[in-house]
Amino acid sequence: MNASISAPQLLDLHPAPADMRQLVIEGLSRQPRQLPAWFLYDAEGSRLFDLICQQPEYSLTATETALLEQEAPAIAAALGRGTLVEFGAGSARKVTPLLQALADPAYVALDISAEHLAQACNRLQQRFPAVPILGVCCDYSQLEQLPEHPLLSGAAHLGFFPGSSLGNFERGAAQALLRQFRQLLGPGGRLLIGIDQPKAPERLEAAYNDAAGVSAAFALNLLARLNRDLAGNFDLEAFRYRARWRPEQSWIEMALVSCRAQTVQLAGRSWDFAEGEALITETSAKYTPEAFLALAAEAGWRGERRWSDPAGDLSLHLLVQAD
Ligand code: AVJ
Repeated sequence: MNASISAPQLLDLHPAPADMRQLVIEGLSRQPRQLPAWFLYDAEGSRLFDLICQQPEYSLTATETALLEQEAPAIAAALGRGTLVEFGAGSARKVTPLLQALADPAYVALDISAEHLAQACNRLQQRFPAVPILGVCCDYSQLEQLPEHPLLSGAAHLGFFPGSSLGNFERGAAQALLRQFRQLLGPGGRLLIGIDQPKAPERLEAAYNDAAGVSAAFALNLLARLNRDLAGNFDLEAFRYRARWRPEQSWIEMALVSCRAQTVQLAGRSWDFAEGEALITETSAKYTPEAFLALAAEAGWRGERRWSDPAGDLSLHLLVQAD
């Protein structure tokens, strides 16, 4: 067998490590306190997130996966030809039905974690020996200067951004990201994006605070990470996890709430927490199809087609460039 076909190619753009200390000091100095959501994903956090996706209350993953499997032929036909580029591919589990349905596909996985990426690409390559696969380790700031590569040489690419990951970005950042995707995918590029929709608050709050306590463990793991990476002494027992729907913003706010007045040492400083004071770990915005398409339009995208699950929990939007 030809080794260049059976082995995925990997490119490491060596994304600069973020100045975590500076970002933490900024985030804890804000009112209310809030840290970047990606801090949640150290090795243990990534493991816990995969576990969240298996909880019955967090139906997003199962619903989106089923929708992709069911509609793959129609989606593939609507996507047309081009290299499929997945943003933040992680373990790249959702792309399988598309690779099966697309005629003559090629696949590029972008992710910040080199290890995750290599594993995911190797696994996919075994499943699809004839599909050219490239993994690029990079961060979102490097999206505009992707390396020269045969798989990235064509003009129009097909973007894939499942999982409603856009929800973690606040409005301006979400628009900036959609604009970057547009630039990277090139004129005539298309984007298939999964967007979770607003639903009954009880359901949303349960999805982000499952009975097994995995969501709570995922958030509390942030404190363990901070203790380890920035010489902190957070007492994980002295904070409780809370997920609540904020209807005015149309997002779920996830936070760790201080159980008592306490002082924490972190990053060489002392931080006072009042009893009941929140440290927001992430927000997860939900968009109706109309609200999402309005946001996408401001970033130069137009909705071409949409697929939804029967209950209307989430949508896969196929976007094309507006001009
Ligand atoms: C990865 C951002 C899509 O917001 O649903 C799930 C993250 N956090 N449960 C989401 C998450 C806690 C997830 N996203």
